[in-house]
Amino acid sequence: MTDFEPLIIAFACNWCSYAASDVAGTSRTCYPANVRIIRVMCSGMVEPTYILKALDGGADGVLLAGCRPGDCHYISGNLKAERMVEGLRVLLRRLGLEEERLRLRWISAGEGGLFAKTIEEMVAQLKEKGPSRLKKSKGGISGI
Ligand code: FES
Repeated sequence: MTDFEPLIIAFACNWCSYAASDVAGTSRTCYPANVRIIRVMCSGMVEPTYILKALDGGADGVLLAGCRPGDCHYISGNLKAERMVEGLRVLLRRLGLEEERLRLRWISAGEGGLFAKTIEEMVAQLKEKGPSRLKKSKGGISGI
């Protein structure tokens, strides 16, 4: 599966992680073009259904990125996101999906390099895993 290019959907909080992706871009830090970034106001507003919809719609992996603990602009949204991801990983296992397809990472606004490194790591890991089971059963990317 050498030519497989995974699709990653990244939900990035406006105040930190989306800003970090912007910093990566403006500082010309290269990272794989496998990611589609969706800006959200806080990682805590991302519902499990958003992540499941991304995976069902053809994503091979999902990144949920938010402010570091203590830095959430809505006090505890990132902690809520962390609890949601823990619960969702259990569901993914039951669906037969590897839990590595869902990654949670705290990336602050100035950490463009960390954003780029995270995408690089995910792409490498997903290339090893191959296409998502859900994607294979549908025969390709649809709707994203
Ligand atoms: S505002 Fe960034 S995680 Fe809540």
